[in-house]
Amino acid sequence: MHIFGSPRQLVTLRGDMEQLNGKCAFVTGGASGIGLGIARVLVDAGLRVMIADIRKDHLETALALFESLGKSRSVVAMELDVTDREGFARAADEAYEKLGAVHVLVSNAGVGIAGPVATATFDDWDWGLDVNLGGAVNAVCTFLPRMIAQRQGGHIVTTSSLSAITPSPRNATIYATAKAALMAMTEAMRDELADHRIGVSVLLPGPFKTNIREAGRYRQPRYRSRSGYRAEEERLATREDAPEWSDPLDAGRMVLDAIRANQLYVITHGEYRGWAEVKFEGILAAYPPPKDPDRARAMGRTRTVKPA
Ligand SMILES: NC(=O)c1ccc[n+]([C@@H]2O[C@H](COP(=O)([O-])OP(=O)(O)OC[C@H]3O[C@@H](n4cnc5c(N)ncnc54)[C@H](O)[C@@H]3O)[C@@H](O)[C@H]2O)c1
Repeated sequence: MHIFGSPRQLVTLRGDMEQLNGKCAFVTGGASGIGLGIARVLVDAGLRVMIADIRKDHLETALALFESLGKSRSVVAMELDVTDREGFARAADEAYEKLGAVHVLVSNAGVGIAGPVATATFDDWDWGLDVNLGGAVNAVCTFLPRMIAQRQGGHIVTTSSLSAITPSPRNATIYATAKAALMAMTEAMRDELADHRIGVSVLLPGPFKTNIREAGRYRQPRYRSRSGYRAEEERLATREDAPEWSDPLDAGRMVLDAIRANQLYVITHGEYRGWAEVKFEGILAAYPPPKDPDRARAMGRTRTVKPA
């Protein structure tokens, strides 16, 4: 028995979600960008999906899109602020009432908070952590007991970011803090949830064409008055997407494959691998030689583990 568990379990656990047709999903931040891309792909795969989002205009646009695709019977929408725990409980009640069950939980809602750490206020930290990390905590606390109780297996997807592995050089401290915690949270849940036939995946996106630039304009009032990032957020809101950034449907397709295979890490952009290599080489180099080489050998070498 290892105190820290075995890294083998991180990559090789089998899932229970190969057959998704007829199952049901709940997607936070599901009315725009990557969340909408995931919802669309899940609907195409035969799931019924509840999209939950803080922005009514996004929900209306998303519903109109599903209608135009002839898929409106597969989708229900709900206004939800993921930082609102009572609202989450109501959303879960409504999801179970309308869908009958939730097999796939996608904690995707997030805000691209960006600014120098030196001018960040508590409002900035609270907003960045409450939405990006707290939203996923609230989702797990609300839905996991129900998913376990329904005894049908399931899958939890958490949208993190490549910033979790290699933060952008500047202005990403709050965002990267939350996103790295999401990655650790997903990794840490994996072994325990396997006992309930619930798989987990962490989506680590690179750049996508979405509405994330607008997030600051929709800060909830309680996080707004003492923000140190107003100027940054107004600048960010006018940023244009670069043509090479990806289509959110691509993220959706990768997530669908990951759910079916119970694949832990979903990395969308291979271009960033070099940054990860630099980081992980640094981490590996920082490990001292083991005091007990036999024990180290018995604990196994992670390098030989191949994803399932
Ligand atoms: N766009 C990228 O390049 C990129 C890269 C890495 C990670 N991500 C992550 O992907 C996720 C989705 O972002 P996106 O880029 O699609 O942005 P987006 O703004 O297009 O979509 C996010 C949705 O979440 C909703 N939302 C925001 N705060 C919420 C709250 N408190 N409660 C409920 N819904 C809320 C927004 O209204 C929006 O509809 C986020 O977690 C983001 O951090 C995005």
